[in-house]
Amino acid sequence: MIATAVAHPNIALVKYWGKRDALANLPATGSLSMTLDAFPTTTTVALDTGLAVDSVHLNGTESQGEQRARVTRFLDRVRLLAGSDLSARVESVNTVPTAAGLASSAAGFAALAGAAAAAYGLTLDDRALTRLARRGSGSAARSIIGGFAVWHAGDTDEASFAEPVEGPPLAMVIATVDAQRKSVPSRAAMIRTALTSPYYPAWVTSTEQSLDAALEAMAAHDFDRIGRIAETNALRMHALTLASDPPIRYLTASTMTVLERVEQLRADGVSAWTTIDAGSNPVVLCRPESISDVCAALEGTAQLVVAHPGPGMRVLQTKRIDEADARPIKGRQ
Ligand code: PMV
Repeated sequence: MIATAVAHPNIALVKYWGKRDALANLPATGSLSMTLDAFPTTTTVALDTGLAVDSVHLNGTESQGEQRARVTRFLDRVRLLAGSDLSARVESVNTVPTAAGLASSAAGFAALAGAAAAAYGLTLDDRALTRLARRGSGSAARSIIGGFAVWHAGDTDEASFAEPVEGPPLAMVIATVDAQRKSVPSRAAMIRTALTSPYYPAWVTSTEQSLDAALEAMAAHDFDRIGRIAETNALRMHALTLASDPPIRYLTASTMTVLERVEQLRADGVSAWTTIDAGSNPVVLCRPESISDVCAALEGTAQLVVAHPGPGMRVLQTKRIDEADARPIKGRQ
């Protein structure tokens, strides 16, 4: 079987940072996000009886080492669920600057979950797909869902899933100040912060409170409150990483410039708020009618991309590989 799926990154309004169980990838807290209509990742999984081990290509380049091992570990999970021992050929094309703190792994593992489940013949509902995607990358659970998604922390595999939530019209202006790979990958950084940052317990408590407040604000379509909660939560996450030993600093002078411009915009009467993932690139939240004000205020600081709520993961096609299909795939090895 061969299956292709597409998924988009999501940006968290209330962040996931820290695990309660690294093996099952259960988070310490729940989180809330918006799936974007920008930067899709398209992934094809083809089962191949001629392969002894999985082969993985990312943007046309063969993956090796930890990158390939991570995909294989994920496929092992799918094979376990499907009762299959077939290796697969995985080809993934993403359009987001990889590892720049713009959640490329979320779109990547959401698309892989959809394509792999279809190729291995698993019939999973959305909730089960979010739990599967979570195994690859926590934030990928939320990219299965379109628009706004809450990922419930849960204390078991079954209870840790994402589902849609309603919210107000909201746009995001992604300000890429730096498209380089982030200094410390989020997985390693989460471990270091949990072990060494004295603020970690306070982060867990305050994030639980922020999530409850943000879900209330979403239901009330209270944009200002959502923005304020999102900005505070993101800065708390960065305070947490800065306080670990050795410190993890994702923020740069360019990030701070964007934060200052957005503060000034608020002082000028435009409700706009900043969030920042594990990287230096800020994302500005605003009402759709304020997009041009935000872009004008950020002029010259960064490369800007405007995003709106986007679709959840979609399986584009699943088909049986016949001889004619199989040849070109093998020919590219
Ligand atoms: O899913 P991971 O392991 O790449 O972690 C994502 C962490 C943040 O992007 C910083 C926050 C989040 O909730 O997306």
